[in-house]
Amino acid sequence: MIRLDRYLAQSGLYSRSEASKAIRRGAVTVDGAVIRDPSSKVDEGAVSVTADGKKIPWARVVWVMLNKPAGTVSTTDPDPRSVLALLPPEYRRMGLFPCGRLDVDTTGLLLLTNDGEAAHRLLSPKKHCEKTYRFTCLPITEEQRERLEAGVELGDFETQPASVRLDAPDDREHGEITVTEGKFHQIKRMFQAVGSEILTLERVRFAGLNLDPALRRGEWRLLNDEEAAGLGSE
Ligand code: URA
Repeated sequence: MIRLDRYLAQSGLYSRSEASKAIRRGAVTVDGAVIRDPSSKVDEGAVSVTADGKKIPWARVVWVMLNKPAGTVSTTDPDPRSVLALLPPEYRRMGLFPCGRLDVDTTGLLLLTNDGEAAHRLLSPKKHCEKTYRFTCLPITEEQRERLEAGVELGDFETQPASVRLDAPDDREHGEITVTEGKFHQIKRMFQAVGSEILTLERVRFAGLNLDPALRRGEWRLLNDEEAAGLGSE
């Protein structure tokens, strides 16, 4: 069961507030009866909903976890390098889009969904959603590592405190960094700002989900209900 305003918003034809307004003004019917309460629950698989005289089919919410290969682009544009080209055509038709962006050469965990509201919430800077990346870099000193953790000035903003762990005390080139922001080229710019350079970058954790080790590069799977609920999809 799902709220009627959410059913309409999920179609992509209305925003949540437009949906509420349409319902309140009596423009929405469920199985032929006008319903004026946006919070009333409908059985998404078994009702016939119309809004402003048009039938609104149920658009199933889908979340996909993709292990993004290098050379693919986080875009919905018709580009043969788009991450969407890795999904079967029926998924491409569901209005999926990447939840955030990874650079063309960055690999690893990328979520795709057609739940615009949940994606928007996850990507909101206020949410401080954690992202963890495995990196290789030009060797960093302990002082550089501490500067990355404390926050670095990137010109247009200063990064929030981060966690930077190297794989071993004598390994200055491999490790994991966790940040709570997602600015453009953020990790690469952070390493540059302290005089190092990122050589490879792989996202291994996002919003409480680990990259599924069973997925090889370019492979994907649907999230299960529990995983999707944890991301705020109702
Ligand atoms: N930071 C970057 O620099 N690149 C990414 O793809 C993700 C985070």
